[in-house]
Amino acid sequence: MNIALLGYGNMGKEVERVAQERNITIKQILKLANNLQGMGITAETMKDVDVCIDFSTPTAVIHNIWAVAEYGKNMVVGTTGWYDKLKEVEKIVKEKKIGLLYSPNFSLGINVFYHILTTAAHYFDKFDQYDVALRETHHRGKVDSPSGTALAMGQIVLQHIRRKKEMLHETAHKQIKPSQLHITSSRVGHVFGQHEVIFDSEADCVELVHVAKTRSGFALGALIAAEWLKGKKGMYTMKDVLTSM
Ligand SMILES: NC(=O)c1ccc[n+]([C@@H]2O[C@H](COP(=O)([O-])OP(=O)(O)OC[C@H]3O[C@@H](n4cnc5c(N)ncnc54)[C@H](OP(=O)(O)O)[C@@H]3O)[C@@H](O)[C@H]2O)c1
Repeated sequence: MNIALLGYGNMGKEVERVAQERNITIKQILKLANNLQGMGITAETMKDVDVCIDFSTPTAVIHNIWAVAEYGKNMVVGTTGWYDKLKEVEKIVKEKKIGLLYSPNFSLGINVFYHILTTAAHYFDKFDQYDVALRETHHRGKVDSPSGTALAMGQIVLQHIRRKKEMLHETAHKQIKPSQLHITSSRVGHVFGQHEVIFDSEADCVELVHVAKTRSGFALGALIAAEWLKGKKGMYTMKDVLTSM
């Protein structure tokens, strides 16, 4: 399979490294210098490319989607921060009849974790002896809090545990309501990302924990998504990849 990399920062380089291990060919590398406003995406650079993988920036990615769609190529999007334009992108994908798969977190472990959490929440919904809370830890350079992944986990809990009605982020400074799902964040050192969901009752406690160790997990997930997307049309997420396996 032939890939064009759109973005060659931390993640682009990691995708290139993991692609070599999987015998996937990187045909093109486009970064800011040779792809301002998607202008590096041409008939020539897209020749023989099966799927483009984008780990660029929230502003660059929309230009890239337009240009890649123009040449009828499929695209895996790892870049975050553009989801307010999801409707516009859905329209492009439909009109140009391409395949596009996006995910805010390509880690296979996290995507399996979502499934485990959905099952756990489904069962704990039946037993109101159990309270539930979420805890996440990341490196001190992280700009957003709570993490997007913690918010996605919070959504799963709210969807399945009917006695939880809303998320409460950070310190409450007072007693929290039983209907609130408490999400706390810590920022320390160099932690790639740790997420914990705690189901606690008087009798026992169940803790689900995910620990990210390197960036390679995100790169591997994006490449598996690209292999899966080859030849498909329409909008997909990692959930589609996992449920089809
Ligand atoms: N979904 C996931 O699992 C996941 C995991 C990790 C990160 N991310 C997201 O992926 C994105 C990239 O992360 P990163 O850590 O790799 O960032 P980064 O190290 O800052 O790299 C960003 C890259 O985008 C390039 N770029 C800027 N404009 C471009 C354009 N017009 N066309 C092509 N490339 C362009 C930059 O090129 P220059 O080098 O020329 O400036 C740079 O190589 C972020 O949005 C991040 O949140 C997602």
